[in-house]
Amino acid sequence: MEYTLAIIKPDAIQGGKAGLILNRLEEEGFRIRAARLTRLTEPEAGELYAVHRGRPFYEALKRFMTSGPILALALEREDAVAYLRKVIGATDPAQAERGTIRALYAENKERNAIHASDSEENARREVSFFFSVQELLWTVEERG
Ligand code: CMP
Repeated sequence: MEYTLAIIKPDAIQGGKAGLILNRLEEEGFRIRAARLTRLTEPEAGELYAVHRGRPFYEALKRFMTSGPILALALEREDAVAYLRKVIGATDPAQAERGTIRALYAENKERNAIHASDSEENARREVSFFFSVQELLWTVEERG
């Protein structure tokens, strides 16, 4: 089984959509292996989005991601990384396929409700950004 990292973003938490999004993720077969409601600091947002440093939207993205609480989720499923990208839809909700999480809940390209790791390598990096190995192992069902 594969892991990926999802972040329910400040707009969706503020808008009261976290429960609906969690429900959808479970319906799509994801198991929640770790979860944390937190608020990112500026340096944390910068590190998380380091690949976008220098892009025109980078500073605004950091401001938005630090503007309120987020819910970080380590999710497990077969083909988790690719499947979650499909379920969330395109970055811009106007381009997102009908029925995807962003088509349903995102406002625009920046306030787009949810983040998902874009590769297995980034999934490993992003899961370990939020969660320790102990936290992840503890929740595996076989261990009780
Ligand atoms: P996310 O999947 O979290 O990864 C990078 C984020 O940058 C993306 O979602 C958007 O929220 C944001 N982003 C990407 N492109 C743009 C853009 N052109 N304008 C504003 N925000 C963007």
